[in-house]
Amino acid sequence: MIVSEFIPRPYKSLLASGAVAYSSPSNIALVKYWGKKAHQIPANPSISFTLNNCKTLTILKFKKKTTEGFSFEVFLEGVVQNDFKPKIEQFFKRIEVYVPFVSKYHFDIHTSNTFPHSSGIASSASGMSALALCLMEVEQHLNPDISKAFFNRKASFLSRLGSGSACRSIEGPLVVWGAHKNISGSSDLVGLKYPYVVHPHFNNFCDTILLVDKGEKQVSSTVGHDLMHGHPFAAQRFAQAQAAMDTLIEVFKTGDLKAFISIVEREALTLHAMMMSSDPYFILMKPNTLEIINKIWAFRAKTGLHLCFTLDAGANVHVLFPESEAKEIQEFIETELLMYCQNEQYIQDKLGAGAQPIKI
Ligand code: DP6
Repeated sequence: MIVSEFIPRPYKSLLASGAVAYSSPSNIALVKYWGKKAHQIPANPSISFTLNNCKTLTILKFKKKTTEGFSFEVFLEGVVQNDFKPKIEQFFKRIEVYVPFVSKYHFDIHTSNTFPHSSGIASSASGMSALALCLMEVEQHLNPDISKAFFNRKASFLSRLGSGSACRSIEGPLVVWGAHKNISGSSDLVGLKYPYVVHPHFNNFCDTILLVDKGEKQVSSTVGHDLMHGHPFAAQRFAQAQAAMDTLIEVFKTGDLKAFISIVEREALTLHAMMMSSDPYFILMKPNTLEIINKIWAFRAKTGLHLCFTLDAGANVHVLFPESEAKEIQEFIETELLMYCQNEQYIQDKLGAGAQPIKI
């Protein structure tokens, strides 16, 4: 599948060398992407909050070369990371037709994360989007007349080819990815900044991430997506996600936090239910994930406060809540939930505006 909109005009000339840098955030899905078709096309639309503090910072150094093929080194906090190479090699293969200069340069990719490495926080969304944005910055040098809107759209398109959820990290605070009949402009190819009204209840919405298990996941997202092929509940699941998007459009308009909670928690549990009912089946939640969920439910029933949880493909718990209730809820988290985290580790985050260029 070739998308001609993103194939550039031939470059007049290539810069001999240079360096560009971007910071790009992680995001947390409210309606989950789980299941995909060929070419990184999602099986259903998803929508996410862009985070503010969990970010990857990437510096991309490039230098013209004469040899064939791709040539790059990846460094995390200054240390060579050979285990990142296959994913980046695959990414370069997928995007070469859209950024043909990738095979003309040697790249040194220097990355660092603001969140602890191997905290279980998905770094593929922030990492792949930061790299895609750096490549777009290079493209901008080669084709200076591209507009900001096109820059972001193509950055999202490239990010998706690196890791699906990465296409939702370019902008914020809310991004939709995947075609939905009632969201105009939504597309399977790129993330779209949510185009409708968002009630003030969601301004600065908070996300406290509880690090329950920082170990390596037993099953990668890519394998999990694959297990949705032939999954007995796949069709119902994809239809459920379409319907959840419709409900969220209404929720964002009215600010109905009760309805928000019920959609978000059901999506999180459905994601894990899909894992538990695939063949082979697997469980990524840990006993402490369930302890936290039960504590959240009990606290919500007792206080009427509007906190809820969501999960990504792992054991960590994202606790979401409105800024107006942050004081009591943060206190509850610190006194009653931290004991379930590995080394009491957690990250306080909130909605963010998306990626930013870095001056170097
Ligand atoms: C559970 O984007 O990591 O976080 O496209 O194979 O790289 P690949 O998968 P990835 O999957 C993320 C899955 C999820 C849900 C979501 O973010 O929507």
